Amino acid sequence: MREDAWSGKDVLSILDFSRADLETLFETADGFVNRPGSVPKSLTDRIVATAFFEPSTRTRLSFSTAALKMGAKVIDLSPDVSSVLKGESLSDTIRMLESYSDLIVMRHPSEGAALLASEVSDVPIVNGGDGSQHHPSQAMLDLYTIRKLKGGVDGLRYVVLGDTRYARTAASFLYGLAKYDPKSVYLVSPEGLRLRNEVRNMVDKLGLKIEELDDLEPILDKVDVIYMTRIQKERFPDPNEYEKVKGSYRINKMVLSKAKDAIVLHPLPRTNELSYDVDDLPNAAYMEQARLGVPVRMALLHLVLGERGR
Ligand code: CP
Repeated sequence: MREDAWSGKDVLSILDFSRADLETLFETADGFVNRPGSVPKSLTDRIVATAFFEPSTRTRLSFSTAALKMGAKVIDLSPDVSSVLKGESLSDTIRMLESYSDLIVMRHPSEGAALLASEVSDVPIVNGGDGSQHHPSQAMLDLYTIRKLKGGVDGLRYVVLGDTRYARTAASFLYGLAKYDPKSVYLVSPEGLRLRNEVRNMVDKLGLKIEELDDLEPILDKVDVIYMTRIQKERFPDPNEYEKVKGSYRINKMVLSKAKDAIVLHPLPRTNELSYDVDDLPNAAYMEQARLGVPVRMALLHLVLGERGR
């Protein structure tokens, strides 16, 4: 177990953690899933702050749930009723939260916001999403879900479907996959939603081989994991560009009839790209994926802030 890799550290990007570090996280989460009665109250007397400058259901609430289950208290900055509205800077806001808490989970629309926060804060910063850039705990729980449902991450065939341009979940997932040994990784997206160069260059640098396709159909019966993303409407610099790709891909029960036992993951929320008629299929793994966010985030908080992080 490489617990020292986590203790007291910022969690800004999955790129900062090795495969061995991730396995430590997953084994810790396994302990919480398999022996729920033995979850340690390792965060007793600790205060976790959440500061979400963008909407969130899963990330904010699963981190809060994880912290509460381990004995921490949680405080929440709501930007719409805080002094952010009076023009307080991000760095001053983080300095305040740093003086009230032991760890800050934050989400911000600007890329690099979590890095900036980590530079002004002496308490660990956990990046709950910064613009289109990183969403490390999401990628960690995605890999954990695959490990649990497919028995491992290596040797599988993956397709990432949809908005690979703006979805930070897609970029972080690819960076996470690069630490493993997938058999193949396909990306299927309309032309306007292809990878940004910075992500493509990083994927190349990490040695992850990807194949970009226009259509899902030819590979649907060849993949083990279908990783879907929502079109990130809020990230488009030009609404006309969004209109061009809106509704350009969709998975439903009929489409999935050609798939074998591939699991369908989606970080959620979904809009119209993932039909509700998929929910009853054995392929649907996205609700389990969201549920596993709690033990993975418990493990993360325990490793960063638990006994060894004191
Ligand atoms: N997957 C995810 O980040 O969901 P939320 O936006 O609800 O946190």
